[in-house]
Amino acid sequence: MEVVIVPDAEAGGALIAEAMAELFRRKPEALLGVATGSTPLPIYTALARQVRSGAVDASRARVAQLDEYVGLPAEHPESYRSVLRREVLEPLGLGLDAFMGPDGTAEDVAGACEAYDRALTEAGGVDLQLLGIGTDGHIGFNEPCSSLASRTRIKTLTEQTRIDNARFFDGDIEQVPHHVITQGIGTILEARHLVLLATGEGKADAVAATVEGPVAAVCPASALQLHPHATVVVDEGAASKL
Ligand code: GLP
Repeated sequence: MEVVIVPDAEAGGALIAEAMAELFRRKPEALLGVATGSTPLPIYTALARQVRSGAVDASRARVAQLDEYVGLPAEHPESYRSVLRREVLEPLGLGLDAFMGPDGTAEDVAGACEAYDRALTEAGGVDLQLLGIGTDGHIGFNEPCSSLASRTRIKTLTEQTRIDNARFFDGDIEQVPHHVITQGIGTILEARHLVLLATGEGKADAVAATVEGPVAAVCPASALQLHPHATVVVDEGAASKL
């Protein structure tokens, strides 16, 4: 695992956007796995700037979703499909035809999870999977004690994650769904390159457990230690307990 310490979130965003741009130059039809949350926003801003300036052509890129709330209509502004459309697809000039994600409104949620897991493999696999990290060490929505071999499946959110995510729902935890679909840790580990960005002191404990702790299901992100090509980018705050 490679750990890169950058001065701030903006520098982390620029660094990872450049890695994505390089990927698109090498493989224009690359499948980029994207994450939601506040942390990746500087990456998407920097990448969109590169696309607008003509420094990179992302017109053939494909984008894959990491996780999704169960039960939120796709057009709900906080469904991750809507969020990614707003924050990634539109700024990169891509349409929904370039996008793949699980159906959080399917009647057969388990079937939708299996179908999405299979679709990722059939699409040739994810080239670069971007990850954030929860304060409890979760990646995607794989909460602590998720199996390190897990596949895409339905999960129940912990109270802490619902509290953390209430800020996207007018601060009202009651509006945060209880259930989600997430790529499993085993699924995530199949991506060719994993890139985790963590910023701020609030992530320092989770980052220390990820990088220096044992590989253990209590810290799902520690599974990155098992991957042959994993990069952890942290600002000084998130690195403060290393
Ligand atoms: C959610 C997402 C994760 C993300 C995490 C951290 O739980 N499912 O993919 O990494 O939030 O979000 P933030 O970057 O806003 O701290």
